[in-house]
Amino acid sequence: MLIMYISQILKVMLAILVICTQAYSTTQQLRHGASVFMEYCIGCHSLQAVRYQQLRKDLAIDTLDIAHLRSLHLPSQPSDLYTSLSKKDARNWFASVPPDLSMIALILGKKELKQYLYGFYPDVMRNFGSANNQRPGINMPDVLAPLRQDREKLDSTIDDLIEFLEYTADPSITVRTYMGILLLCIIVIIGFVLINYAKLIFV
Ligand code: HEC
Repeated sequence: MLIMYISQILKVMLAILVICTQAYSTTQQLRHGASVFMEYCIGCHSLQAVRYQQLRKDLAIDTLDIAHLRSLHLPSQPSDLYTSLSKKDARNWFASVPPDLSMIALILGKKELKQYLYGFYPDVMRNFGSANNQRPGINMPDVLAPLRQDREKLDSTIDDLIEFLEYTADPSITVRTYMGILLLCIIVIIGFVLINYAKLIFV
């Protein structure tokens, strides 16, 4: 009886551990996505709708851990996520102003955004040496070109970046994830109690 009880408790603990690991990996993914954005995109695109303080809170990033912030390419001072590229320079260089990307995951949708980021290919006839099969004529350079040799790295970079852009378009996603996890934990615990109660009565 005692062994059965212990094994039940272990199972519940395992379920909770799996759920928590899932939450942890989502946060890791978002952090990686944020660092990819800071490394490859903010040179030209802003995230005007994102409050940096909120981002650090949602991604559980320690504000005092400067080394960690650096490793994620995040600013150590309170700031907003605006590109330093001026509209004038953008028009001169690209003949258009790169759009703000806060809502891009909602505007284009996840699938189209993914196709766009995979759609670059080398084209020596173009100003920046690349073109995009989803957007012929677009003037964005293939900024992820250095990663295209390593398929695995490219996949995880684009996946996490898109995950991050989904978060910026709807930051409540993290709260919903945690609420979901909390709810699952509660269901697991209630289920455990009920099963044991039923066993006590019927067995
Ligand atoms: C060197 C500048 C530059 C960098 C860096 C850059 N982009 Fe762009 N991006 C542009 C320009 C220019 C456009 C085209 C604007 C236009 O023609 O309307 C664009 C357009 C886009 C679009 C809109 C496509 C559409 O359907 O209209 C998306 C999405 C985008 N960029 C994503 C990204 C992401 C993600 C990164 C980082 C991995 C990034 N960009 C990095 C310059 C840049």
